[in-house]
Amino acid sequence: MKREKFSSSFSVFLATLGSAIGLGNIWRFPYITGMNGGGAFLFVYLICVLLVGIPVMISEFFIGRKTRLNPVLAFEKLGGRKWSVVGYMGIIASLLIMFFYSAVAGWVYSYTFKSLMGKFNGVTLETSKEIFINTITNPKGVILWQIIALLVVAFVLAMGVKGGIERATKILMPILFILILICDIRALTLENSFEGIKFLFAVDFSKLKSSSILTALGLSFFKLSLGVGAMITYASYFTDDDNLMLTSLNVALSDTLISLLAGIAIFPTVFAFNMEPSYGPGLLFITLPLIFSKLPFGNVLLFMFFLLTSIAATTAMLSLVEVSVAYFMEVKKIDRRKSVFIVTCIIALFGSLAALSVEGNVLSNVKILGKSIFDTFDYLSSNILLPLGGILISAFVGYFIRWEEVVLEIVKNHEYRNSVYLRVLLYVLKYITPILILVIFIKELF
Ligand code: PHE
Repeated sequence: MKREKFSSSFSVFLATLGSAIGLGNIWRFPYITGMNGGGAFLFVYLICVLLVGIPVMISEFFIGRKTRLNPVLAFEKLGGRKWSVVGYMGIIASLLIMFFYSAVAGWVYSYTFKSLMGKFNGVTLETSKEIFINTITNPKGVILWQIIALLVVAFVLAMGVKGGIERATKILMPILFILILICDIRALTLENSFEGIKFLFAVDFSKLKSSSILTALGLSFFKLSLGVGAMITYASYFTDDDNLMLTSLNVALSDTLISLLAGIAIFPTVFAFNMEPSYGPGLLFITLPLIFSKLPFGNVLLFMFFLLTSIAATTAMLSLVEVSVAYFMEVKKIDRRKSVFIVTCIIALFGSLAALSVEGNVLSNVKILGKSIFDTFDYLSSNILLPLGGILISAFVGYFIRWEEVVLEIVKNHEYRNSVYLRVLLYVLKYITPILILVIFIKELF
């Protein structure tokens, strides 16, 4: 079986950006920034992207393209059998993320549909809350929408890397970008919008919480799709001559830009209507419909906003699911369609447990170590497996692979070989990244 590849550097960029941009940018980033005091948190977040996010991303790109294999076989090829454990950890983490991510994607799909149907016309805070609670606690509804979201992802993946992932991201990413710009223009032209901008960008360190640093680190991993083998898998499809350094910079920058654009669409609107920016996970689902319903053409905007969020969630899920699909294809020698089918069934099974375990739904009484099933999947992946994966991946590339080999793979064409930036980056990768993650990780655990 011949391994597929993306057809150009631009396709590589769009697909990878598609993986990075997701609920992490549009749902998590705004509410987490809101709960951690705005600008100061943003500052910490940016440092995490520079010192940890970009170096780990480059390491994953290196591993993927060098071997052109799925994470399990890639680690085995470069480091021997025992390193394949890191690949398996990635597969488990990507599945755990999918279990709850697909549930939230289902809510977003259902909100897109509801806003198209005009369900939010004239909502008040009470009715908006009610719609949210009804949406996430209706067992049949959540599972139906979750399965629809999974089927969309399965459909694209079944068509392969070029015909599926590449084609879908080429169409969807520009649409996402245009939709977010429209929402931004509307938000910025509201009265009082400056308050929201100030909230997002003004740096006040006294507002940071003690947990904010780990939160920022976890968010940078999650947002940039790191630590779970997604970037290794995508990089295994990259073109031969793609400059990995530039791609990682472009992706990290664009991902941050889109998060900021999402923040700019949300916070000015929140402030213009005197709502709380620290509303938590409900920010997107409760606050926004309420606010948009008060704007002229608000229902159209609301539909656009949820459509763009659905797109973002879908392109991110493509990469999460592809990690396991590539594994089944190459390790278990099962063809693409069957692999997609198997992985989708596994996710639907455990994912529905996550969806049903949300507060107020039928399985909300089931607790694992004091947490709901949904929160357990989230905690295990975001707080444990992602940072652990990050430490192992960066330490592996930093200490077990010869420096020249890494440089050669990263900047195939010679022009960038002696770039100072690349050298600094490799130093950071070796001496700062793994240690920093380790320190923050240990501090959080004990
Ligand atoms: N980066 C995606 C987001 O921001 C989530 C994701 C995490 C995707 C890990 C792939 C791997 O929503």
